[in-house]
Amino acid sequence: MYKCGNYPVIEKTAISAGIFSLTVLCPGVAELAQPGQFAHIKVEGFQLRRPISICDFDRRAGTIRLVFEVRGGGTGRLSGLNAGDNLDMIAPLGKGFTLPETIAPDRRLLLVGGGIGVPPLLSVSRRFRESATVILGFRSYDKIILANDFKLFESAVITCTDDGSVGRRGFVVDALVQELEKGDVDGIFACGPTPMLKAVVNAAGSVPVEISLEERMGCGVGACAVCACRIADENGVQTMKRVCKDGPVFDGKAVIFKPYAGGGSLSPILKP
Ligand code: FES
Repeated sequence: MYKCGNYPVIEKTAISAGIFSLTVLCPGVAELAQPGQFAHIKVEGFQLRRPISICDFDRRAGTIRLVFEVRGGGTGRLSGLNAGDNLDMIAPLGKGFTLPETIAPDRRLLLVGGGIGVPPLLSVSRRFRESATVILGFRSYDKIILANDFKLFESAVITCTDDGSVGRRGFVVDALVQELEKGDVDGIFACGPTPMLKAVVNAAGSVPVEISLEERMGCGVGACAVCACRIADENGVQTMKRVCKDGPVFDGKAVIFKPYAGGGSLSPILKP
């Protein structure tokens, strides 16, 4: 179930270069939202809506928080909104993370985020607090986002930067392997660039892992197949799924990672 409407922005902040946070008053959406779902946003002057992951939601306050990076004209226009403006939004959409009801005191969840993939993990941290260990990866110190927000929820935070300017030097998967070696992990939840997701799935071994995929979207509600990806079932039979409706979160071990047709970068998405 989802809501569609115009909702007031009540807070807007720039949290890093080109990355913005909007808090939106929408009690009906906040009531329904689950970690890992997304909002489909209409931007004035653009035909297609922009999918933006729900970073966090507060049911008592009736708000959701959206954190996004300016990547083009649409998100640039979105970054021009301020408190008091209205946001035309369909939300919450998609299937989020499959989270346990409870977690034993001596067990942990590992949340792994890279760059602008970090935001949807914050609402998982809000729920599991000190039972979550968060591994965050960024190119350099000036790209770090939300690390202090995770600490406010009392989750342990391991920050990695490609250039070593803050925290560990290197990739999140190196920190992930070290945390897995401690042997007290019930599940891994990850969101970030495709090569990172692939490395996380490979490192997970027998630990359950869910990953959130990012893909271009049209309708956002399962009607157009623009967002198709290939998923294998437990017998290895592959079927096409829709990132917007069957995902964006999938069992990491079921995602078929393929090279883009005509492109060099890895992507789990096959062009239809
Ligand atoms: Fe239309 Fe996913 S965006 S089916």
